[in-house]
Amino acid sequence: MRIFFTGGSGKAGKHAIRHLQEQGHIVVNADLVPSGLDVSELLIDLTDFGQVIGAMSQFTDFHELDAGTGVPKFDAVVHFAAVPRVMIGTDGECFRINTLSTYNVIEAATKLGIAKIIFASSETTYGVCFADGEVKPAYVPVDEDHPTVPHDSYAMSKVCNEATARSFQARTGADIYGLRINNVIEPHEYAENFPAFIADPALRRRNIFAYIDARDLGHMVDCCLKTDGLGYQVFNVSNDDMSVGITSDQVIAQFYQGVDVRRDMGANETMYANDKAKQMVGFAPQHSWRDVLG
Ligand SMILES: NC(=O)c1ccc[n+]([C@@H]2O[C@H](COP(=O)([O-])OP(=O)(O)OC[C@H]3O[C@@H](n4cnc5c(N)ncnc54)[C@H](O)[C@@H]3O)[C@@H](O)[C@H]2O)c1
Repeated sequence: MRIFFTGGSGKAGKHAIRHLQEQGHIVVNADLVPSGLDVSELLIDLTDFGQVIGAMSQFTDFHELDAGTGVPKFDAVVHFAAVPRVMIGTDGECFRINTLSTYNVIEAATKLGIAKIIFASSETTYGVCFADGEVKPAYVPVDEDHPTVPHDSYAMSKVCNEATARSFQARTGADIYGLRINNVIEPHEYAENFPAFIADPALRRRNIFAYIDARDLGHMVDCCLKTDGLGYQVFNVSNDDMSVGITSDQVIAQFYQGVDVRRDMGANETMYANDKAKQMVGFAPQHSWRDVLG
């Protein structure tokens, strides 16, 4: 597929682009800054609709001129660009940039007849991550039916983006899938960060004790590209195990007193349910911090 990928210069996008290229997809990266990857890219600001629809409907690299058959069409859009959390700039700018850029990307893609759009939503929609003080999940494992009433502007922007996506899907019939991505971990971060998580599991409370390997996230994007006809969907994206060294019983005893535990949990099973992604698009994560740290 020929894919318009936004935010490919960022932490998650770089891995996802590499994975998609390995699967044989042709990728164009649209970002404010260069990626350093071997990929065609356009440096644009996605909050400007003119730049978004222009970038999606023009030549993007010299080799595309050779055939003499006009501008090639994109088969799919993967939208990862965003301000990736609060406390980088102001709360309001985070909300403005994330909601406006997502609206622009989905409007442009649907107006150009691109029938598959995948966008990055977030674990933060469940309201635990950036809460003032401690907010516990309403129940575990947290699945896609869990309430999404966050208190912070980043997570609000992601909830808003999900509503935007759902409405465009209803109007156009395009397949639009939102990925409620958990905390993205690059391969080098296992050795760097996980010893501290093992020593102090409380460090992972705000991430519902879960994580997603950046390479497995790339695989999830590819699964979504390959699965048509699901309309509007949101998917939790996480690895199968927790990001801490204690068992699920110990997590429940230490952190989830009073939380409704809805099923028997495997000893290391994630509290951030990824069953829907497995069942509907064939997500099969391959990586674990345990492969690196034992
Ligand atoms: N990293 C995580 O743990 C995590 C968890 C859940 C969801 N997400 C989401 O996944 C996506 C990727 O996250 P990341 O960690 O790679 O973030 P990142 O900040 O590393 O990358 C985001 C990219 O978006 C680009 N960008 C921002 N505003 C732009 C604009 N107006 N126009 C064009 N490009 C713009 C940035 O230049 C950057 O390259 C984001 O949507 C983020 O909200 C990330």
